[in-house]
Amino acid sequence: MKLSRREFVAAGLAGAAGLCVGGYPTRSNAAESKAPLPDEDGYRLWLRYAPPGDAAKIYRKVVQQIRVDGDSATMVIIRDELRSAIAALLGNAVPRIENGLADGTVIVGTPGNSALIRDLKWAADLGAVGDEGFIIRSTRVGNKPVTVIAANTEIGALYGSFHFLRLMQTGRPIGKLDIAERPALQLRLMNHWDNPDGTIERGYAGRSLWQWNELPGKLSPRYADYARACASLGINGAVINNVNADPRMLAPETLRKVAALADVWRPYGVRMYLCANFAAPVTLGGLATADPLDQKVAGWWKAKADEIYGLVPDFGGFLVKANSEGQPGPKTYGRTHADGANVLADALAPHKGNVIWRAFVYDDDIDPDRAKRAYIEFMRLDGKFRPNVVIQVKNGPIDFQPREPFHPLFGGMKQTPVIAEIQATQEYLGQAKHLVYLGTMWQEFFDSDTFAKGPGSTVAKVLVGRIHPSRITGMVSVTNPGTDANWCGHHFSQANWYAFGRLAWNPELPAEKIADEWTRMTFTNDGKTVAVIRDMMMGSRETFVNYTMPLGLHHMIGGDHYAPQPWNDRAPRADWTAVYYHQASTDGIGFDRTKRGDGAVAQYFPPVCDLFDDISRCPEKFLLWFHRCAWDYRMKSGKILWDELCAKYHEGAKQAAALQTTWQSLAGKIDPRRHKEVADRLAIQVADSAKWRDQILQYFAGFSKRPIPPSS
Ligand code: GCU
Repeated sequence: MKLSRREFVAAGLAGAAGLCVGGYPTRSNAAESKAPLPDEDGYRLWLRYAPPGDAAKIYRKVVQQIRVDGDSATMVIIRDELRSAIAALLGNAVPRIENGLADGTVIVGTPGNSALIRDLKWAADLGAVGDEGFIIRSTRVGNKPVTVIAANTEIGALYGSFHFLRLMQTGRPIGKLDIAERPALQLRLMNHWDNPDGTIERGYAGRSLWQWNELPGKLSPRYADYARACASLGINGAVINNVNADPRMLAPETLRKVAALADVWRPYGVRMYLCANFAAPVTLGGLATADPLDQKVAGWWKAKADEIYGLVPDFGGFLVKANSEGQPGPKTYGRTHADGANVLADALAPHKGNVIWRAFVYDDDIDPDRAKRAYIEFMRLDGKFRPNVVIQVKNGPIDFQPREPFHPLFGGMKQTPVIAEIQATQEYLGQAKHLVYLGTMWQEFFDSDTFAKGPGSTVAKVLVGRIHPSRITGMVSVTNPGTDANWCGHHFSQANWYAFGRLAWNPELPAEKIADEWTRMTFTNDGKTVAVIRDMMMGSRETFVNYTMPLGLHHMIGGDHYAPQPWNDRAPRADWTAVYYHQASTDGIGFDRTKRGDGAVAQYFPPVCDLFDDISRCPEKFLLWFHRCAWDYRMKSGKILWDELCAKYHEGAKQAAALQTTWQSLAGKIDPRRHKEVADRLAIQVADSAKWRDQILQYFAGFSKRPIPPSS
C-alpha cells in the first residue's frame, strides 16, 4: 500500500484519467448527476467524506459495523470520526458494537485497551510499526471476515483510522488490506508565525486561530477541528507563535491559555511547542542579562520549564530564532549558538523536551554572501550541542525562494540532528493569491542528492537518519491556516498543508500521489476531473518559477515579498535588496558562487560542488544562482541567455493563463462557490504573471540592451 514515487507511476496511477483507480469505479454520484452541486466554503478541508460513487456498494460489504475498544478521549474521537465518516461515505449509518463480532466489522484498538487485539498475537508486527504506526488488515477473527486497525498506542489507532477512511475517500479497494505504516520522521510540526495581537507574520488567510482574549475560559470549536485536520495527516505537534517571539508568550497568564489549547489537542496527538524569545530572562524575568552562561539565567530557564511542564505535562519544547533579523541571542553576550541552545536544553531535559534551534542566521560579519553564512556558523559547532537539541534548517540557503538548491547543512552536519523547515504559506510564491502546489518543490528538495556518503545520499535519507545516525528526526512547516472560512485563503493552498503532513509522514511519497489524493478528498472523485486538477497542480510551481524567477534568479522582490521589484536597491540591509542577488549590469547577470567567485559551491560535497561549479554541467534551473553569465551566453537550447530568459517569462505567463482556461473548463464539476473563488484568484494570478513578465523584462532590457523577442 505504501507506494514509492516510482511505483506510483508504474501502477498507472499517475496518468489515471479514466474511471478506475485500484480496480474501483471512481465517478462520484454527484459528479455524474445533473443536479447542481451544493456550495461549499472549504471549511471541511479534505475531510468532507463525499460519497465515493459506485465504490460505496463494495464498501458496504466490508464495513457493516464498527467496534472501537477503549473509552479514552482518543478512542471516543476515533469512534465518532468513523461513525460520521462512514455514514457520509456510504449514505447509511452503521451500528456500533461493543462486544462480539459480526461479518464486516471494522475493529479498532490497541493491545492496551482491547483483549481482542491482544488475542490476535500481532506483537511482532506491531513492534515493527513503533509508537505512532499502525496495521490495517483484512482478516478473519472467530471465523468472521473483519478489518482490524491495530496500533501500539491510541494515537497510532487514530492515524490508522484516518488512513482507512482515506482509502475510502479516494476510491481505493479495502477488501484485502495488509498495511503496516510508521512515520519516517519523529517531529512533524506545524509552525504558526502568529503574534499575541492576532496578526500573523507572512499570514495570508485571516487572523490567528488562537483567540487569546477568550482563552482559557472559552474554547473555539476550531481548536479541535484544527487538531483533527492535523491528526488526519499524522502531524504531531504545533509551534503556535511567531519565531520573532514576543517574550510575553512565556508569561504565567499566557501559559494558562496555552495549557487550555494543549488540553484540547492532546487526544489528537498534537503536542504544544512554543517559540521562546532568548531575552525573556531580562524582559520577562527582570534579570540584568540573558547571557546563557550566567547561573541566574540558567536558573530562570529551569524554573520556566518547570512551570510550563506543571501546566502542559507533554510540552514538546522551545523553537528559537536567535541572532537573526534583530532577534536577541547568545551572540549578543559573546557566546555561541551552542551555548544558547544548551542552556535551554538543560532546562528541558529533565522533562524530555527538545530545543529546536534555527539555522536561519546570516550575520554579515561572517561572509559577504548571505547564502554561505549559516553553514559557516553551524558547521563549526557540529557536535557541541546537547542531545536534546536539533538544528532546524530551511530547505535552501537563502529564504523560501521559488527555487533554491538544497541547503548544504543537509548532509553537512554529522553529529547534530538536523530537521527541515519548509514553508506552506507561499510567502514568496504568490501568497494566498496564486495557485502554487508545493508538493513538487518539496519533492525536488527531498530528492536532491547531497552525496554526503556517496551517491543516493538524498536529503530525504539525511532527514530520516539513514546517512548520519540521528537521535531526533523531523520536519517543520511554516504554516498557513488562519481564521478564513477555508482556513488557508486560497482553496488550493490547503493542498500545501496536506502535502506537508503527508511528506512529514513519508518524505518519499510522490508529489503526484499526494495531489491525486488531496483532489479526490477535497473536490471530487470524478476520474477525469481529478486528472485535470492534478495536472494543474503538478505544473503550477514551475509555472510560478517561470514568470517570476527562472534560471536560478532569486529574491527579486521588496518588502511584501509578493510583487516584482528587481530594481529594489534600498533596504536596511544590502541582502534585503534585489540587486544584491541578480547583480545585473550591461556585462551580464547572476551571482558568481563558483570556486573562482565567492566559493559557495565548496559548501557542497563533491561531485555536487563540481557540478554546480562547472557552467557547462550546472543545471540551468540554478544557472544564475551559481554563475554570472554574459547576456549572450549560449544556453543548452541554442538560444542566448537573454532570449532564453525572455522565453521563460513568456512561457510562465502563458502557463498561468492556461491554468485559468483549464479551471474554467471545470465549471459544473466543482461546486459553484469554490469554483468561483478559485477563478477569482486565477484572474489575479494571470494579471500578476503578465506584470512580472513585463516589469522584469523591461528592467533587464535596460542592461542587456537587447530587444525583448516576441512571445513565440
Ligand atoms: C523571512 C520572513 C520573515 C521571517 C523570517 C524567518 O525572512 O520574511 O518574516 O521572520 O523569514 O524565517 O525568521
